[in-house]
Amino acid sequence: MGINLIFSAILVYGLLYALATAEPVEDKRALLDFIGNISHSRNLNWDPRTSACNIWTGVTCNHDKSRVIAVRLPGIRFRTSIPTNTLSRLSALQILSLRSNGISGPFPSDLLKLRNLTGLYLQFNNFQGPLPLDFSVWENLSVLDLSNNRFNGSIPSSISNLTHLTALDLANNSLSGDVPDLNIPSLQMLDLTNNNLTGFVPQSLSRFPSSAFSGNNITLQNLLSPVSSPTTTVRKRHSSKVSEPAILGIVIGSCTVAFVSIALLLIVMNRKKKDGAITATSQKKEKSTKRSISEPRDVNGRITFFEGCNLVFDLEDLLRASAEVLGKGTFGTTYKAALEDATTVAVKRLREVIVGKKDFEQQMEVVGNIRHENVAPLRAYYYSKDEKLMVYDYYNQGSVSALLHAKRGENPTPLDWETRVKIAIGAARGIAHIHSQIGGKLVHGNIKASNIFLNSQQYGCLSDLGLATLMSPISPPAVRTAGYRAPEVTDTRKVSQASDVYSFGVFLLELLTGKSPVHSLGGEEVIHLVRWVQSVVREEWTGEVFDVELLRYPNIEEEMVAMLQIGLSCVARMPEQRPKIGDVVKMVEDIRSVNTSNSPFGGTGSPGSTPTLTPNVGEIGSSMAPN
Ligand SMILES: *[C@@H]1O[C@H](CO)[C@@H](O)[C@H](O)[C@H]1NC(C)=O
Ligand SMILES: *[C@@H]1O[C@H](CO)[C@@H](O)[C@H](O)[C@H]1NC(C)=O
Ligand SMILES: *[C@@H]1O[C@H](CO)[C@@H](O)[C@H](O)[C@H]1NC(C)=O
Ligand SMILES: *[C@@H]1O[C@H](CO)[C@@H](O)[C@H](O)[C@H]1NC(C)=O
Ligand SMILES: *[C@@H]1O[C@H](CO)[C@@H](O)[C@H](O)[C@H]1NC(C)=O
Ligand SMILES: *[C@@H]1O[C@H](CO)[C@@H](O)[C@H](O)[C@H]1NC(C)=O
Ligand SMILES: *[C@@H]1O[C@H](CO)[C@@H](O)[C@H](O)[C@H]1NC(C)=O
Ligand SMILES: *[C@@H]1O[C@H](CO)[C@@H](O)[C@H](O)[C@H]1NC(C)=O
Repeated sequence: MGINLIFSAILVYGLLYALATAEPVEDKRALLDFIGNISHSRNLNWDPRTSACNIWTGVTCNHDKSRVIAVRLPGIRFRTSIPTNTLSRLSALQILSLRSNGISGPFPSDLLKLRNLTGLYLQFNNFQGPLPLDFSVWENLSVLDLSNNRFNGSIPSSISNLTHLTALDLANNSLSGDVPDLNIPSLQMLDLTNNNLTGFVPQSLSRFPSSAFSGNNITLQNLLSPVSSPTTTVRKRHSSKVSEPAILGIVIGSCTVAFVSIALLLIVMNRKKKDGAITATSQKKEKSTKRSISEPRDVNGRITFFEGCNLVFDLEDLLRASAEVLGKGTFGTTYKAALEDATTVAVKRLREVIVGKKDFEQQMEVVGNIRHENVAPLRAYYYSKDEKLMVYDYYNQGSVSALLHAKRGENPTPLDWETRVKIAIGAARGIAHIHSQIGGKLVHGNIKASNIFLNSQQYGCLSDLGLATLMSPISPPAVRTAGYRAPEVTDTRKVSQASDVYSFGVFLLELLTGKSPVHSLGGEEVIHLVRWVQSVVREEWTGEVFDVELLRYPNIEEEMVAMLQIGLSCVARMPEQRPKIGDVVKMVEDIRSVNTSNSPFGGTGSPGSTPTLTPNVGEIGSSMAPN
């Protein structure tokens, strides 16, 4: 009996396991043959033992996981040509994106076997030679992007048999000969710029702007005047406003990273409205919430992109991406939107924006045009009646808050002292830059460890600026934010540059002590970091405040004391007693030089720095009235 039971249990589990791990075995084999036969320098997590559908980067399966229907591998740094008889075995494939690699060789003609293909993205590679003569097998192809390669020869007229084609991009190749008569009513986007084409623009294509043909030796038929200077359509404006109906369904070349995420977010949110289940799922399995996304329908309003994005994306890429909740902050929820392997962005969904569209846009223009190594660039924003989104770069190390307060075991290497000093220097410089904007009037308004990230040189870098003035001031601060708030902000609800300095001071104390601005010692009692540090320093037990993780670094006491003093001067109760950020930058930059003198007492004139663990705090004592 017992044994029978065990056997049935094993059977049932076995069956469940088999169902849960249903796999497109043949397709998986084809993908492994592909990746094994092409050189690439970015690693893919395509482990034969793991699920291709659930885990493999860039692979999307159909509903029952019996077939692979999309492969997106942009920017993997493929070098060689596409091995034959590998990808072409994925007979159910609908989307293939290998854009932005270094793939060489001729057009991969065996892909013509993929009859179900709707989108083919091979742009930004090194393909060369002629295009295939017969395109007509791809009867369902909707987007064909072969731009920015070295294809030569003529444009095959069989393209006109692609009756579902909506976007055709052949720009930046070496195609020559006449432009064929492409009578495709569904075609919405055409780009043939920068080739070696000659002759006339056929009547069927005369509805496209002349810019679609520039950079060739083509005569516009209707005007019978030669297109002389090969003008390209490079955008020179800082930001470009795009209305969605115009974009959907066509290939867009712009900061589409942002666009993708925005569409994604809209979809996620629409779904949320419908079934209210998204939040639950995304929190339950935060790591691998891969969702495939259906077409956005009720998008309105517009997206504004800022300078500095030049990735080419397409609608199909946009419709599938995975999203993950990164955190819920003062002004809204932030999502991590992982598009494909190559790009990840952070998208913040704002709630309770109280200003009108015009004021909002004005503020975004200010914030979006700030480019500084210590300020996280705003890439794009989206404004409609119901949704306000902001798109930032994604920092994969996480915020300083996460790095500082990671639970033991999560982050095996605590932030070392040198890194903390660099974070402080970077953050101070970022704030100084922000304070210099709009005639020296811009305020960050929400400085806290979870809004500070590490840039590529490991210096601090600020995010989330300039929002405070757009949001409802009535909302009481979350406990975690409260600890950063200057006393006058709690009363007046108005942020200022002086309150930014206060918040930065709290952040310095947090870096030094490793403690959150507001925390409990286990019991009911809540400790306010500023008051606690002030009281410990007053009792001349300064050594007690420092993060125990820092005690293992030799000879940094003076530097820690110097940072402590800067922090304490920033959290002066009265705004006018706080230093200006420019002075703070100098002081923070001097922290490291405090210790470079050979004198055993180190001090090099940083104001008030004393080389003991129990500094004379008289100078800052005036600012220490308990608050
Ligand atoms: C290369 O592809 C062939 C099939 O085309 C396959 O038999 C072989 O195992 C692949 N090589 C590697 C290293 O994956
Ligand atoms: C191609 O798509 C059609 C319908 O979309 C489907 O019925 C067919 O099975 C697909 N072909 C393959 C090989 O998957
Ligand atoms: C093209 O799409 C239609 C409708 O989705 C489908 O019925 C048909 O099977 C597809 N053709 C091919 C060759 O997959
Ligand atoms: C295309 O380029 C190849 C070399 O890259 C050359 O051999 C061939 O003649 C070219 N074809 C045309 C039509 O220009
Ligand atoms: C379109 O396809 C038909 C049959 O599939 C073929 O006869 C015709 O030549 C094709 N047209 C072009 C322009 O290739
Ligand atoms: C073509 O190449 C030029 C120069 O590299 C680039 O500025 C332009 O954006 C490209 N055009 C397209 C449509 O990709
Ligand atoms: C275009 O054609 C001319 C002469 O036919 C040739 O010299 C030039 O290299 C070609 N340019 C490209 C980009 O193929
Ligand atoms: C452009 O084409 C015309 C004939 O179509 C030819 O006479 C002329 O030389 C060409 N110009 C260039 C710059 O190739």
